[in-house]
Amino acid sequence: MLEVNRNPNIEIISYAEVKKVDGYVGNYTVTVEKKPRYTNNDCNGCGACAEVCPIYTINYFDENLGARKAIDISFGQAVPFLYDIDRTVCVECFSCVDACELDAIVFSQVPEDITFQVGTIIIATGWDIYEPYGEYGYGEIENVITQPQLERMLAPNGPLEGHVHRISDDKKPKEIVFIQCVGSRETERTYCSGVCCMLALKNARLLLEEFPDANITICYIDIRTNEKTFEEYYKKTGREWPENAFQICKDESDAILFGAVGPTKKRPLEKPNEGSSMLFGLRFGLDLYANVRPAKLYPNVRHKISHKFKQVWEPGNVDFVVIRENTEGLYTPARGVLSRAENVEMAIDNRVITRKGAERVIRFAFQMAKRRKGTPKDGKKKVTCVDKSNVLQGCLLFRKVYDDVALSYPEIERDYAYVDAFTQWILRKPECYDVAVMPNMFGDIITDLAAVLQGGMGMASSGNIGDEHGMFEPVHGSSPKHAGKDVVNPIASILSLQMMLDWLGMKKNDDKLITASKSIEMAVAKVLEEGKTLTYDLGGNAKCSEVGDAINAKFRKLS
Ligand code: IPM
Ligand code: MG
Repeated sequence: MLEVNRNPNIEIISYAEVKKVDGYVGNYTVTVEKKPRYTNNDCNGCGACAEVCPIYTINYFDENLGARKAIDISFGQAVPFLYDIDRTVCVECFSCVDACELDAIVFSQVPEDITFQVGTIIIATGWDIYEPYGEYGYGEIENVITQPQLERMLAPNGPLEGHVHRISDDKKPKEIVFIQCVGSRETERTYCSGVCCMLALKNARLLLEEFPDANITICYIDIRTNEKTFEEYYKKTGREWPENAFQICKDESDAILFGAVGPTKKRPLEKPNEGSSMLFGLRFGLDLYANVRPAKLYPNVRHKISHKFKQVWEPGNVDFVVIRENTEGLYTPARGVLSRAENVEMAIDNRVITRKGAERVIRFAFQMAKRRKGTPKDGKKKVTCVDKSNVLQGCLLFRKVYDDVALSYPEIERDYAYVDAFTQWILRKPECYDVAVMPNMFGDIITDLAAVLQGGMGMASSGNIGDEHGMFEPVHGSSPKHAGKDVVNPIASILSLQMMLDWLGMKKNDDKLITASKSIEMAVAKVLEEGKTLTYDLGGNAKCSEVGDAINAKFRKLS
């Protein structure tokens, strides 16, 4: 601004309002009302007036956080550097007039209209702050502040001289959460301000410099890095999950509901695992050895095949569950590359199958079969061992362990399938399956195929279960191409929540949780059956949030 002010071809008329514009392109007459500051241009900004002024009031420029005198200047770099009097609080003691050696204070100033000719008008709209009263505790809890308030707190020339502290008790903040998109991208203000993402990232970094031990979380719909180098800045800023998040999941959580995570843009080849540190951190870290993935088709769900919707499989015929081993197999981090002269010349992934790993997941599958109703075909309880034991040693061990475990469950039918053949059979005769147990990577592949039977990935829910902990998540990923559009199917996530309540209910022996879980499933089934509120993947055009609301409404009626 100083540069602009010094330029002889630019005149700044601040603290003013455009009253009238006449004319046409190339020849406009503009009338502007200059508001009175009650100081004239002789003011040299010495500040003697403010020193003697006895009245303090809130400083609008500091987002009402700091104080100013009735005669003051809004901030240290103001252009033009002129003091002004807030006449709404001034008591007219005139001490400032006495203190001013330049006679620059003019109490008699009134608004003044000035008129000038211009050829072109450029409109810069400016902006107004949305104050989210009634949301997230704003206005009730002192430590809930707006981003512009934080901005002023962080500013070296702000009310705290850049040293942020909690407003409630002046202490250092430990947990800082940014909630993005408050007041925007909703029905009233559908648009995005376009600035908040970068502002939050910048301020998060500044806060981290001041409070290296703080946990800073940014809750966002999608990060909008819409200018050059913004994306790089964003990537440098983030950690995939806060430092103590794993500990909270491990020590303080009854269960974990995991959203779809991953990059919001197409995954770059050089960062193939982006977003997966949380997923594997939890699966391995909490020893969640059984990945339970139901393949159940609900009535009235049609299958999208060759871009057309038709019901290929009958609902009553698809109701099996895949138990995927979740802590070893090809996902064992025993892998690496051989590079020579900076070229990767060989890559190796070792598949590890252990007796312990196989034994516990197979036992889990048999236990699961005990709780279920058997195959849709004849109601017989059955566990299918899916492997490739005609070729692979690890699979041979898996099958041997299966045989050992099966001895303890004589009432449950044994069944064997090579994984390649199994892909055909689940499509051609899904009614013959009840529970299928398999090594890690096979389970990953088979469950995407099984999702087709259910109506797509938007329907596929899962639970990662260990002896102590449970983490529940939709099988699908973050679907970058749909990020922020409110169009994807929420049912996979909702059914994961339903699985979570069922598991918690069993673990804690709490019937209420089990009933809630059943009600969620019934609510989902009802919305599907009515077929009025469906997302695009099921042939509808409802938004993600509309499907969520419809399921919620049914759930409330049921509970
Ligand atoms: C899944 C996913 C994950 C997996 C990916 C995201 C690492 O495909 O849960 O099925 O391979 O397990
Ligand atoms: Mg997968």
